[in-house]
Amino acid sequence: MVFFLTLSAVSDRKIYIETYGCQMNVVDSEVVVAILLQHNYSVTEKVEEADLILVNTCSIRENAEQRVLSRIRDLGQIRRKREGVSLGVIGCMAERLREALLEQTEVDLVVGPDAYRQLPDLLREVGSGQKGINTLLSMEETYGDISPVRMDRNGVTAFVSIMRGCNNFCAYCVVPGTRGRERSRDPESIIHEVKELVGKGYREVTLLGQNVNSYRWQGNGNTSRREDGATSRREDGATSRREDGMTGLTFERLLERVAGIDPGMRVRFATSHPRDMTDELLGVIASFPNLCRAIHLPVQSGSSAVLKRMNRKYTREHYMDRVEAIRKYLPGASLSTDLIAGFCGETGEEHRETLSLMEWAGYDFAYMFKYNERPGTYAAEHYRDDVPEEVKTRRLSEIINLQSELSLKSKKKDVGSVVEVLVEGTSKRSDLHLYGRTPQNKVVVFPRKEFNPGDLVRVRINSCTAATLLGEAV
Ligand code: SAH
Ligand code: SF4
Ligand code: F3S
Repeated sequence: MVFFLTLSAVSDRKIYIETYGCQMNVVDSEVVVAILLQHNYSVTEKVEEADLILVNTCSIRENAEQRVLSRIRDLGQIRRKREGVSLGVIGCMAERLREALLEQTEVDLVVGPDAYRQLPDLLREVGSGQKGINTLLSMEETYGDISPVRMDRNGVTAFVSIMRGCNNFCAYCVVPGTRGRERSRDPESIIHEVKELVGKGYREVTLLGQNVNSYRWQGNGNTSRREDGATSRREDGATSRREDGMTGLTFERLLERVAGIDPGMRVRFATSHPRDMTDELLGVIASFPNLCRAIHLPVQSGSSAVLKRMNRKYTREHYMDRVEAIRKYLPGASLSTDLIAGFCGETGEEHRETLSLMEWAGYDFAYMFKYNERPGTYAAEHYRDDVPEEVKTRRLSEIINLQSELSLKSKKKDVGSVVEVLVEGTSKRSDLHLYGRTPQNKVVVFPRKEFNPGDLVRVRINSCTAATLLGEAV
Protein backbone atom coordinates (compact mmCIF):
# COMPACT_ATOMS: atom_id res chain seq x y z
CA MET A 1 0.00 0.00 0.00
CA VAL A 2 2.70 2.41 1.04
CA PHE A 3 4.67 1.33 -1.98
CA PHE A 4 1.73 2.12 -4.22
CA LEU A 5 1.32 5.58 -2.70
CA THR A 6 5.01 6.28 -3.12
CA LEU A 7 4.90 5.20 -6.74
CA SER A 8 1.97 7.39 -7.59
CA ALA A 9 3.67 10.30 -5.86
CA VAL A 10 6.80 9.68 -7.90
CA SER A 11 5.12 10.24 -11.22
CA ASP A 12 2.60 12.75 -10.10
CA ARG A 13 2.63 15.07 -13.06
CA LYS A 14 3.68 14.59 -16.67
CA ILE A 15 5.90 16.93 -18.69
CA TYR A 16 5.88 17.18 -22.45
CA ILE A 17 8.80 19.16 -23.88
CA GLU A 18 9.49 20.41 -27.43
CA THR A 19 12.94 21.69 -28.30
CA TYR A 20 13.90 24.20 -31.01
CA GLY A 21 17.22 25.83 -31.88
CA CYS A 22 20.77 24.63 -31.42
CA GLN A 23 22.36 21.62 -29.73
CA MET A 24 22.74 23.65 -26.53
CA ASN A 25 18.98 23.70 -26.29
CA VAL A 26 18.88 19.93 -26.70
CA VAL A 27 21.16 19.56 -23.67
CA ASP A 28 19.25 22.22 -21.75
CA SER A 29 16.00 20.34 -22.26
CA GLU A 30 17.72 17.26 -20.84
CA VAL A 31 18.85 19.32 -17.83
CA VAL A 32 15.31 20.64 -17.34
CA VAL A 33 13.93 17.11 -17.42
CA ALA A 34 16.57 16.01 -14.90
CA ILE A 35 15.54 18.82 -12.55
CA LEU A 36 11.83 18.09 -12.86
CA LEU A 37 12.20 14.32 -12.48
CA GLN A 38 13.49 15.06 -9.00
CA HIS A 39 10.26 16.91 -8.28
CA ASN A 40 7.60 14.30 -8.94
CA TYR A 41 7.40 14.76 -12.69
CA SER A 42 7.70 12.12 -15.38
CA VAL A 43 8.11 12.58 -19.13
CA THR A 44 5.47 11.90 -21.75
CA GLU A 45 5.73 11.98 -25.52
CA LYS A 46 2.01 12.67 -25.86
CA VAL A 47 1.12 16.31 -25.50
CA GLU A 48 -2.55 15.40 -24.80
CA GLU A 49 -1.65 13.67 -21.53
CA ALA A 50 0.79 16.32 -20.27
CA ASP A 51 0.22 18.37 -17.12
CA LEU A 52 3.06 20.68 -18.05
CA ILE A 53 3.87 21.61 -21.66
CA LEU A 54 7.28 23.22 -22.14
CA VAL A 55 8.68 24.77 -25.30
CA ASN A 56 12.44 25.36 -25.38
CA THR A 57 12.95 28.15 -27.87
CA CYS A 58 15.46 29.85 -30.20
CA SER A 59 15.79 33.53 -31.12
CA ILE A 60 18.57 33.38 -33.68
CA ARG A 61 16.44 34.48 -36.64
CA GLU A 62 13.01 36.07 -36.82
CA ASN A 63 11.39 33.23 -38.75
CA ALA A 64 12.55 30.77 -36.06
CA GLU A 65 10.70 32.89 -33.50
CA GLN A 66 7.59 33.28 -35.66
CA ARG A 67 7.30 29.55 -36.18
CA VAL A 68 7.58 28.86 -32.47
CA LEU A 69 5.09 31.62 -31.59
CA SER A 70 2.50 29.97 -33.77
CA ARG A 71 3.32 26.60 -32.20
CA ILE A 72 2.87 28.14 -28.72
CA ARG A 73 -0.59 29.33 -29.80
CA ASP A 74 -1.48 25.82 -31.01
CA LEU A 75 -0.27 24.33 -27.75
CA GLY A 76 -2.43 26.90 -25.94
CA GLN A 77 -5.47 25.35 -27.67
CA ILE A 78 -4.44 21.83 -26.67
CA ARG A 79 -3.91 22.80 -23.08
CA ARG A 80 -7.37 24.37 -22.82
CA LYS A 81 -8.96 20.98 -23.47
CA ARG A 82 -8.04 19.78 -19.97
CA GLU A 83 -8.14 21.32 -16.49
CA GLY A 84 -4.92 22.20 -14.71
CA VAL A 85 -2.48 22.00 -17.59
CA SER A 86 0.33 24.61 -17.55
CA LEU A 87 2.21 25.97 -20.54
CA GLY A 88 5.76 27.29 -20.25
CA VAL A 89 8.27 28.93 -22.58
CA ILE A 90 11.93 28.43 -21.75
CA GLY A 91 15.18 29.17 -23.60
CA CYS A 92 16.28 32.11 -25.72
CA MET A 93 12.84 33.51 -26.62
CA ALA A 94 11.86 33.48 -22.95
CA GLU A 95 14.97 35.56 -22.29
CA ARG A 96 14.49 37.94 -25.21
CA LEU A 97 10.72 38.40 -25.29
CA ARG A 98 9.64 38.04 -21.64
CA GLU A 99 6.72 40.52 -21.32
CA ALA A 100 5.65 40.15 -24.94
CA LEU A 101 5.16 36.43 -24.39
CA LEU A 102 3.09 37.03 -21.28
CA GLU A 103 0.99 39.66 -23.04
CA GLN A 104 0.52 38.00 -26.40
CA THR A 105 0.24 34.31 -25.58
CA GLU A 106 -1.40 32.23 -22.87
CA VAL A 107 1.77 31.09 -21.16
CA ASP A 108 1.96 30.57 -17.40
CA LEU A 109 5.70 30.24 -17.19
CA VAL A 110 8.58 32.19 -18.79
CA VAL A 111 12.02 30.97 -17.75
CA GLY A 112 15.38 32.00 -19.22
CA PRO A 113 18.37 29.69 -19.86
CA ASP A 114 20.10 30.38 -16.54
CA ALA A 115 17.06 29.98 -14.28
CA TYR A 116 16.10 26.32 -14.75
CA ARG A 117 16.95 25.40 -11.17
CA GLN A 118 14.09 27.69 -10.15
CA LEU A 119 11.54 25.75 -12.23
CA PRO A 120 10.12 23.70 -9.32
CA ASP A 121 9.54 26.88 -7.26
CA LEU A 122 8.11 28.74 -10.24
CA LEU A 123 5.77 25.82 -10.93
CA ARG A 124 4.49 26.05 -7.38
CA GLU A 125 3.67 29.71 -8.05
CA VAL A 126 1.86 28.70 -11.21
CA GLY A 127 -0.01 26.06 -9.18
CA SER A 128 -1.31 28.82 -6.91
CA GLY A 129 -2.60 30.83 -9.84
CA GLN A 130 0.30 33.20 -10.47
CA LYS A 131 2.61 33.49 -13.45
CA GLY A 132 6.07 31.96 -12.99
CA ILE A 133 8.75 34.26 -14.38
CA ASN A 134 12.53 34.24 -14.07
CA THR A 135 14.83 35.50 -16.80
CA LEU A 136 17.84 36.45 -14.71
CA LEU A 137 21.14 35.61 -16.39
CA SER A 138 23.99 34.33 -14.28
CA MET A 139 27.77 34.70 -14.31
CA GLU A 140 28.27 31.22 -12.83
CA GLU A 141 25.48 28.83 -13.72
CA THR A 142 26.68 25.86 -15.79
CA TYR A 143 24.36 23.12 -14.42
CA GLY A 144 27.65 21.28 -14.01
CA ASP A 145 26.38 19.02 -11.24
CA ILE A 146 23.22 17.93 -13.06
CA SER A 147 23.33 14.79 -15.18
CA PRO A 148 21.11 15.49 -18.19
CA VAL A 149 18.40 12.88 -18.78
CA ARG A 150 19.04 11.78 -22.38
CA MET A 151 15.97 11.94 -24.53
CA ASP A 152 17.66 11.17 -27.86
CA ARG A 153 17.13 7.44 -27.28
CA ASN A 154 19.65 6.33 -29.91
CA GLY A 155 21.86 5.49 -26.92
CA VAL A 156 24.94 5.99 -29.10
CA THR A 157 25.68 9.72 -29.40
CA ALA A 158 25.24 12.45 -26.80
CA PHE A 159 25.93 16.15 -26.39
CA VAL A 160 27.88 17.37 -23.37
CA SER A 161 27.81 21.06 -22.54
CA ILE A 162 31.24 22.38 -21.49
CA MET A 163 30.48 26.08 -21.30
CA ARG A 164 27.61 28.55 -21.56
CA GLY A 165 27.10 32.03 -22.92
CA CYS A 166 29.23 34.01 -25.35
CA ASN A 167 31.46 37.07 -25.07
CA ASN A 168 32.11 37.55 -28.76
CA PHE A 169 29.34 39.97 -29.63
CA CYS A 170 29.32 39.37 -33.35
CA ALA A 171 27.41 42.38 -34.62
CA TYR A 172 24.45 40.37 -35.98
CA CYS A 173 23.97 37.90 -33.14
CA VAL A 174 21.45 37.71 -30.28
CA VAL A 175 23.20 34.91 -28.38
CA PRO A 176 25.29 37.07 -25.99
CA GLY A 177 22.00 38.77 -25.06
CA THR A 178 19.96 35.60 -24.61
CA ARG A 179 22.64 33.42 -23.02
CA GLY A 180 24.71 35.93 -21.10
CA ARG A 181 28.43 35.97 -20.41
CA GLU A 182 30.76 33.15 -21.24
CA ARG A 183 31.55 30.71 -18.42
CA SER A 184 33.24 27.34 -18.37
CA ARG A 185 32.03 24.21 -16.63
CA ASP A 186 34.10 22.37 -14.01
CA PRO A 187 36.23 19.82 -15.92
CA GLU A 188 35.68 17.19 -13.22
CA SER A 189 31.93 17.30 -13.82
CA ILE A 190 32.48 17.07 -17.59
CA ILE A 191 34.73 14.04 -17.18
CA HIS A 192 32.32 12.45 -14.74
CA GLU A 193 29.49 12.88 -17.25
CA VAL A 194 31.51 11.40 -20.12
CA LYS A 195 32.48 8.42 -17.95
CA GLU A 196 28.83 7.91 -17.09
CA LEU A 197 28.01 7.91 -20.81
CA VAL A 198 30.78 5.38 -21.47
CA GLY A 199 29.25 3.20 -18.74
CA LYS A 200 25.82 3.42 -20.39
CA GLY A 201 27.24 2.26 -23.71
CA TYR A 202 27.40 5.59 -25.54
CA ARG A 203 30.03 5.64 -28.30
CA GLU A 204 30.31 9.31 -29.21
CA VAL A 205 30.15 12.63 -27.37
CA THR A 206 30.06 16.13 -28.81
CA LEU A 207 31.45 18.79 -26.47
CA LEU A 208 29.36 21.91 -26.82
CA GLY A 209 29.89 25.64 -26.44
CA GLN A 210 29.33 28.74 -28.58
CA ASN A 211 33.11 29.08 -28.80
CA VAL A 212 34.73 25.99 -27.31
CA ASN A 213 38.26 27.19 -28.02
CA SER A 214 37.92 29.80 -25.32
CA TYR A 215 37.06 27.20 -22.67
CA ARG A 216 39.11 27.90 -19.57
CA TRP A 217 38.59 26.56 -16.09
CA GLN A 218 40.22 28.48 -13.28
CA GLY A 219 38.80 26.74 -10.26
CA ASN A 220 35.75 27.81 -8.30
CA GLY A 221 34.36 31.22 -9.09
CA ASN A 222 35.73 30.55 -12.55
CA THR A 223 34.94 32.78 -15.49
CA SER A 224 36.34 32.64 -18.97
CA ARG A 225 39.65 34.16 -19.88
CA ARG A 226 38.15 37.05 -21.80
CA GLU A 227 35.92 39.53 -20.07
CA ASP A 228 35.32 41.89 -22.93
CA GLY A 229 35.78 39.86 -26.03
CA ALA A 230 39.29 41.26 -26.44
CA THR A 231 41.52 38.85 -28.23
CA SER A 232 44.08 36.80 -26.39
CA ARG A 233 45.67 35.92 -29.70
CA ARG A 234 48.40 38.20 -30.99
CA GLU A 235 47.14 40.65 -33.58
CA ASP A 236 49.64 39.31 -36.07
CA GLY A 237 47.72 36.07 -36.06
CA ALA A 238 50.38 34.05 -34.24
CA THR A 239 49.00 30.65 -33.48
CA SER A 240 50.18 29.88 -29.97
CA ARG A 241 48.23 31.13 -27.00
CA ARG A 242 49.46 34.38 -25.61
CA GLU A 243 51.13 33.95 -22.26
CA ASP A 244 49.07 36.55 -20.52
CA GLY A 245 49.66 35.38 -17.00
CA MET A 246 46.24 33.74 -16.80
CA THR A 247 46.22 30.26 -15.44
CA GLY A 248 43.70 27.52 -15.80
CA LEU A 249 42.76 24.48 -17.78
CA THR A 250 42.44 25.26 -21.48
CA PHE A 251 40.30 23.54 -24.10
CA GLU A 252 43.36 21.68 -25.40
CA ARG A 253 43.98 20.11 -21.97
CA LEU A 254 40.29 19.35 -21.47
CA LEU A 255 40.12 17.65 -24.84
CA GLU A 256 43.15 15.49 -24.02
CA ARG A 257 41.52 14.39 -20.79
CA VAL A 258 38.17 13.62 -22.41
CA ALA A 259 39.77 11.80 -25.35
CA GLY A 260 41.85 9.75 -22.89
CA ILE A 261 38.82 8.40 -21.00
CA ASP A 262 38.11 5.61 -23.48
CA PRO A 263 39.73 5.11 -26.89
CA GLY A 264 36.43 3.51 -28.01
CA MET A 265 34.53 6.75 -27.39
CA ARG A 266 34.55 9.13 -30.34
CA VAL A 267 34.84 12.77 -29.37
CA ARG A 268 33.63 15.77 -31.38
CA PHE A 269 33.26 19.42 -30.44
CA ALA A 270 31.43 22.51 -31.69
CA THR A 271 31.68 25.38 -32.32
CA SER A 272 35.21 26.62 -32.98
CA HIS A 273 35.89 30.30 -33.52
CA PRO A 274 38.44 30.91 -36.31
CA ARG A 275 40.27 33.46 -34.21
CA ASP A 276 40.98 30.92 -31.49
CA MET A 277 41.75 27.82 -33.57
CA THR A 278 45.33 27.17 -32.44
CA ASP A 279 48.02 24.91 -33.89
CA GLU A 280 48.25 23.45 -30.40
CA LEU A 281 44.62 22.33 -30.56
CA LEU A 282 45.12 20.81 -34.01
CA GLY A 283 48.16 18.96 -32.67
CA VAL A 284 46.05 17.50 -29.84
CA ILE A 285 43.38 16.33 -32.29
CA ALA A 286 46.04 14.74 -34.48
CA SER A 287 47.43 12.76 -31.56
CA PHE A 288 44.15 11.01 -30.58
CA PRO A 289 42.57 8.68 -33.17
CA ASN A 290 39.22 8.93 -31.37
CA LEU A 291 39.10 12.73 -31.76
CA CYS A 292 37.00 13.08 -34.89
CA ARG A 293 38.43 14.46 -38.09
CA ALA A 294 35.72 17.04 -38.66
CA ILE A 295 36.22 20.73 -38.02
CA HIS A 296 33.29 23.11 -38.01
CA LEU A 297 34.80 26.55 -38.52
CA PRO A 298 32.15 29.17 -39.23
CA VAL A 299 33.55 31.86 -41.51
CA GLN A 300 30.32 33.90 -42.05
CA SER A 301 31.86 35.93 -44.91
CA GLY A 302 34.87 35.73 -47.21
CA SER A 303 35.43 39.48 -47.16
CA SER A 304 37.71 41.06 -44.57
CA ALA A 305 35.71 44.28 -44.73
CA VAL A 306 32.45 42.45 -43.99
CA LEU A 307 34.14 40.42 -41.23
CA LYS A 308 35.24 43.67 -39.65
CA ARG A 309 31.71 45.06 -39.74
CA MET A 310 30.50 41.77 -38.28
CA ASN A 311 33.02 42.16 -35.42
CA ARG A 312 34.34 38.66 -36.11
CA LYS A 313 37.90 39.73 -35.12
CA TYR A 314 39.72 37.91 -37.92
CA THR A 315 40.45 38.57 -41.59
CA ARG A 316 40.04 36.45 -44.70
CA GLU A 317 43.80 35.86 -44.64
CA HIS A 318 43.80 34.71 -41.04
CA TYR A 319 40.94 32.33 -41.76
CA MET A 320 42.80 30.90 -44.77
CA ASP A 321 45.89 30.46 -42.63
CA ARG A 322 43.82 28.45 -40.13
CA VAL A 323 42.39 26.26 -42.90
CA GLU A 324 45.92 25.60 -44.13
CA ALA A 325 46.91 24.61 -40.59
CA ILE A 326 43.95 22.20 -40.44
CA ARG A 327 45.05 20.65 -43.75
CA LYS A 328 48.61 20.33 -42.43
CA TYR A 329 47.83 18.75 -39.04
CA LEU A 330 44.75 16.77 -40.05
CA PRO A 331 45.02 15.65 -43.66
CA GLY A 332 41.71 14.19 -44.75
CA ALA A 333 39.71 16.05 -42.10
CA SER A 334 36.41 17.47 -43.27
CA LEU A 335 35.69 21.16 -43.00
CA SER A 336 32.28 22.73 -42.55
CA THR A 337 31.13 26.30 -42.01
CA ASP A 338 28.32 28.81 -41.46
CA LEU A 339 27.70 31.59 -43.98
CA ILE A 340 25.59 34.73 -43.93
CA ALA A 341 24.46 36.32 -47.22
CA GLY A 342 23.69 40.01 -47.50
CA PHE A 343 25.06 41.43 -44.25
CA CYS A 344 24.80 45.23 -43.86
CA GLY A 345 26.66 47.07 -46.62
CA GLU A 346 27.73 43.89 -48.43
CA THR A 347 28.69 44.79 -52.02
CA GLY A 348 28.58 42.46 -55.02
CA GLU A 349 32.36 42.23 -54.87
CA GLU A 350 32.30 41.32 -51.16
CA HIS A 351 29.73 38.62 -51.88
CA ARG A 352 31.98 37.21 -54.63
CA GLU A 353 34.79 37.05 -52.07
CA THR A 354 32.57 34.68 -50.06
CA LEU A 355 32.04 32.50 -53.13
CA SER A 356 35.76 32.44 -53.93
CA LEU A 357 36.66 31.54 -50.35
CA MET A 358 34.12 28.72 -50.41
CA GLU A 359 35.73 27.32 -53.54
CA TRP A 360 39.19 27.70 -52.13
CA ALA A 361 38.27 25.96 -48.87
CA GLY A 362 36.19 23.29 -50.64
CA TYR A 363 33.76 22.97 -47.73
CA ASP A 364 32.30 19.53 -47.18
CA PHE A 365 29.17 20.99 -45.63
CA ALA A 366 27.70 24.39 -44.74
CA TYR A 367 24.83 26.03 -42.90
CA MET A 368 23.77 29.03 -44.99
CA PHE A 369 21.56 31.94 -44.00
CA LYS A 370 20.25 35.25 -45.26
CA TYR A 371 21.20 38.07 -42.92
CA ASN A 372 18.31 38.81 -40.62
CA GLU A 373 18.41 41.96 -38.51
CA ARG A 374 17.83 41.18 -34.84
CA PRO A 375 16.63 43.80 -32.35
CA GLY A 376 19.19 44.88 -29.78
CA THR A 377 22.25 43.72 -31.70
CA TYR A 378 25.09 46.07 -32.61
CA ALA A 379 24.22 45.79 -36.30
CA ALA A 380 20.57 46.69 -35.68
CA GLU A 381 21.61 49.74 -33.72
CA HIS A 382 24.52 50.99 -35.82
CA TYR A 383 24.15 49.78 -39.42
CA ARG A 384 21.48 49.93 -42.09
CA ASP A 385 20.09 46.59 -43.23
CA ASP A 386 20.56 47.91 -46.74
CA VAL A 387 20.96 44.86 -48.98
CA PRO A 388 17.54 44.54 -50.68
CA GLU A 389 15.63 41.33 -49.94
CA GLU A 390 15.78 40.12 -53.54
CA VAL A 391 19.55 40.64 -53.62
CA LYS A 392 19.94 38.69 -50.36
CA THR A 393 17.81 35.92 -51.83
CA ARG A 394 19.87 35.79 -55.01
CA ARG A 395 23.19 35.80 -53.12
CA LEU A 396 22.01 33.09 -50.78
CA SER A 397 20.94 30.90 -53.67
CA GLU A 398 24.34 31.39 -55.34
CA ILE A 399 25.96 30.29 -52.09
CA ILE A 400 23.63 27.29 -51.76
CA ASN A 401 24.18 26.23 -55.37
CA LEU A 402 27.94 26.41 -55.01
CA GLN A 403 27.82 24.48 -51.75
CA SER A 404 25.71 21.73 -53.37
CA GLU A 405 28.48 21.29 -55.93
CA LEU A 406 31.15 21.28 -53.21
CA SER A 407 29.18 18.83 -51.05
CA LEU A 408 28.76 16.46 -53.98
CA LYS A 409 32.46 16.71 -54.81
CA SER A 410 33.30 15.97 -51.18
CA LYS A 411 31.09 12.85 -51.16
CA LYS A 412 32.36 11.65 -54.55
CA LYS A 413 35.90 11.63 -53.18
CA ASP A 414 34.85 8.81 -50.83
CA VAL A 415 33.25 6.60 -53.48
CA GLY A 416 35.35 3.44 -53.84
CA SER A 417 36.97 3.77 -50.42
CA VAL A 418 36.24 1.99 -47.14
CA VAL A 419 35.11 4.19 -44.25
CA GLU A 420 34.51 3.53 -40.57
CA VAL A 421 30.89 4.14 -39.60
CA LEU A 422 29.47 4.46 -36.10
CA VAL A 423 25.91 3.21 -36.48
CA GLU A 424 23.33 5.57 -34.99
CA GLY A 425 20.06 3.99 -36.04
CA THR A 426 17.69 2.77 -38.72
CA SER A 427 17.59 4.77 -41.95
CA LYS A 428 14.54 7.04 -42.23
CA ARG A 429 13.84 5.76 -45.73
CA SER A 430 14.08 2.01 -45.15
CA ASP A 431 13.92 -0.40 -42.22
CA LEU A 432 16.37 -2.64 -44.03
CA HIS A 433 19.10 0.01 -43.87
CA LEU A 434 21.11 1.55 -41.05
CA TYR A 435 22.67 5.00 -40.96
CA GLY A 436 25.69 6.33 -39.15
CA ARG A 437 28.58 8.74 -39.50
CA THR A 438 32.23 8.62 -40.44
CA PRO A 439 34.87 10.37 -38.29
CA GLN A 440 34.54 13.16 -40.90
CA ASN A 441 30.86 13.47 -39.90
CA LYS A 442 29.59 12.27 -43.27
CA VAL A 443 26.32 10.35 -43.18
CA VAL A 444 26.49 6.78 -44.52
CA VAL A 445 23.53 4.50 -45.30
CA PHE A 446 24.04 0.75 -45.80
CA PRO A 447 22.11 -2.58 -45.63
CA ARG A 448 21.45 -3.61 -42.04
CA LYS A 449 22.43 -7.29 -42.16
CA GLU A 450 23.49 -8.32 -38.62
CA PHE A 451 24.54 -4.85 -37.43
CA ASN A 452 23.03 -2.70 -34.71
CA PRO A 453 23.17 0.88 -33.41
CA GLY A 454 26.44 1.42 -31.54
CA ASP A 455 28.43 -0.88 -33.83
CA LEU A 456 31.53 0.42 -35.57
CA VAL A 457 31.30 -0.93 -39.11
CA ARG A 458 33.70 -0.74 -42.05
CA VAL A 459 31.66 0.20 -45.08
CA ARG A 460 32.72 0.28 -48.73
CA ILE A 461 31.20 3.34 -50.41
CA ASN A 462 29.59 2.54 -53.77
CA SER A 463 27.71 5.74 -54.58
CA CYS A 464 26.58 9.04 -53.12
CA THR A 465 24.29 12.03 -53.22
CA ALA A 466 25.30 15.55 -52.11
CA ALA A 467 24.10 14.65 -48.59
CA THR A 468 24.74 10.93 -48.13
CA LEU A 469 27.23 8.17 -48.84
CA LEU A 470 25.75 4.77 -49.82
CA GLY A 471 27.64 1.52 -49.38
CA GLU A 472 27.92 -1.98 -48.02
CA ALA A 473 29.61 -3.46 -44.96
CA VAL A 474 32.88 -5.25 -45.76
N1 SAH B 1 28.51 30.31 -31.89
C1 SAH B 1 28.46 29.82 -33.18
C2 SAH B 1 27.13 29.93 -33.90
C3 SAH B 1 25.92 30.40 -33.26
S1 SAH B 1 24.52 30.79 -34.21
C4 SAH B 1 29.50 30.55 -33.97
O1 SAH B 1 29.93 31.61 -33.63
O2 SAH B 1 29.86 30.04 -35.01
C5 SAH B 1 24.62 29.80 -35.65
C6 SAH B 1 24.73 30.57 -36.91
O3 SAH B 1 23.59 31.34 -37.15
C7 SAH B 1 25.87 31.58 -36.97
O4 SAH B 1 27.10 30.99 -37.20
C8 SAH B 1 25.43 32.48 -38.10
O5 SAH B 1 25.88 31.97 -39.33
C9 SAH B 1 23.92 32.38 -38.04
N2 SAH B 1 23.33 33.63 -37.56
C10 SAH B 1 23.44 34.16 -36.33
N3 SAH B 1 22.77 35.33 -36.27
C11 SAH B 1 22.24 35.54 -37.50
C12 SAH B 1 21.46 36.59 -38.07
N4 SAH B 1 21.11 37.66 -37.36
N5 SAH B 1 21.09 36.47 -39.37
C13 SAH B 1 21.45 35.40 -40.10
N6 SAH B 1 22.18 34.38 -39.61
C14 SAH B 1 22.59 34.45 -38.32
FE1 SF4 C 1 26.88 34.61 -31.85
FE2 SF4 C 1 29.35 35.25 -32.53
FE3 SF4 C 1 28.87 34.25 -30.11
FE4 SF4 C 1 28.67 32.70 -32.24
S1 SF4 C 1 30.54 33.67 -31.50
S2 SF4 C 1 27.21 32.83 -30.56
S3 SF4 C 1 27.87 34.07 -33.80
S4 SF4 C 1 28.16 36.22 -30.88
FE1 F3S D 1 19.05 29.72 -30.83
FE2 F3S D 1 19.67 30.34 -28.39
FE3 F3S D 1 20.92 28.37 -29.60
S1 F3S D 1 19.20 31.76 -30.00
S2 F3S D 1 20.91 29.02 -31.73
S3 F3S D 1 18.80 28.40 -29.08
S4 F3S D 1 21.79 29.78 -28.13
